[in-house]
Amino acid sequence: MLILGIDTSCDDTSAAVIEDGKRILSNIISGQDKIHDKYGGIVPELASRKHIEMILPVVEGALNSAGAGFHDLSAIAVTYGPGLIGSLLIGVCFAKSISFFHKIPLIGVNHLEGHIHSIFLENDPQFPFIALIVSGGHTSICLVESQGDYSEISRTRDDAAGEAYDKVAKLLGLGYPGGPIIDKMASIGNPEAVHFPRANLKGSLDFSFSGLKTAVLTHIKKYPNTKKEDIAASFQASVIDVLVSRTLDAARSAGVKSIVLAGGVSANSALRETMIKRTSDKGIKVFLPSPHLCTDNAAMIAAAGYHHFKKGTASDLTLNPKAYMQLGTRCE
Ligand code: KG4
Ligand code: ZN
Repeated sequence: MLILGIDTSCDDTSAAVIEDGKRILSNIISGQDKIHDKYGGIVPELASRKHIEMILPVVEGALNSAGAGFHDLSAIAVTYGPGLIGSLLIGVCFAKSISFFHKIPLIGVNHLEGHIHSIFLENDPQFPFIALIVSGGHTSICLVESQGDYSEISRTRDDAAGEAYDKVAKLLGLGYPGGPIIDKMASIGNPEAVHFPRANLKGSLDFSFSGLKTAVLTHIKKYPNTKKEDIAASFQASVIDVLVSRTLDAARSAGVKSIVLAGGVSANSALRETMIKRTSDKGIKVFLPSPHLCTDNAAMIAAAGYHHFKKGTASDLTLNPKAYMQLGTRCE
């Protein structure tokens, strides 16, 4: 069974063809980093315009490299939220058009559910598991009891972890996206050079990163000579400490022995190492998608779509993009 996945939720135009929910036949990603780099963040209008330009060649490219045509597809899975509304609109309209024209079933996929499914492309984590979703737009922990059954345990009250990486990179005069740059820089810095705060929201496993961002800004103003590598490493130590501790607390209180990492920040080398180190003596198994499947891609959307299709759930041509969506929200 071949599923075409499409994701245009943010600044990457992506299309993929996967077979039987697992085998990636193609996974094409056309990024826009060069466009947004000079602004130090995504400019939504520029992102939408680039999606319009790229959607057709990217989908054609995915089909060609998979050696498939529209007539071979069992379904089209498309991200319809959460994300930038103008960006989402391009993918959803395009998917609806080809679904209508070629009479192929359409499946609207929640982007966060897609991120969780990146692990199923390479692995089979046992249910129930705790998923830590850390990306540029989202930071949350949820309990996944079975395929499609999600309950959110906690979320960020302000910035997402990836957003904090991108903003701190901007403060340090580094490029966009900041995550991979800080990841590299932190590896040669001293994580104990500056003790940045770890927000602890009493009685809750929620996150907050806006105070950390302000602490970095204040430090840079007060001590302009601190090495960038040390600021990067100390900032990262604070983020990782909080992400790992809260995830372990969630696993402990849910009595769960498997943890899945998902989203762009889960490509972070120190986060991956720390999560493995801090679970090794606790009998908890950690599942990490390959770094290229952590960041936005359409294969993960196709994988989530495959599971919905198998259950018989599909969308129709009234499918509309939504900028804000909870995990597990679907239009059925
Ligand atoms: O999942 P994603 O591609 O898009 C969203 O759904 O938001 O995540 C992008 C985010 C960006 O904020 C980027 O800086 C961050 O993931 N990121 C990283 C790394 N690679 C990407 N953050 C830390 N370390 C990395 N290696
Ligand atoms: Zn994403």
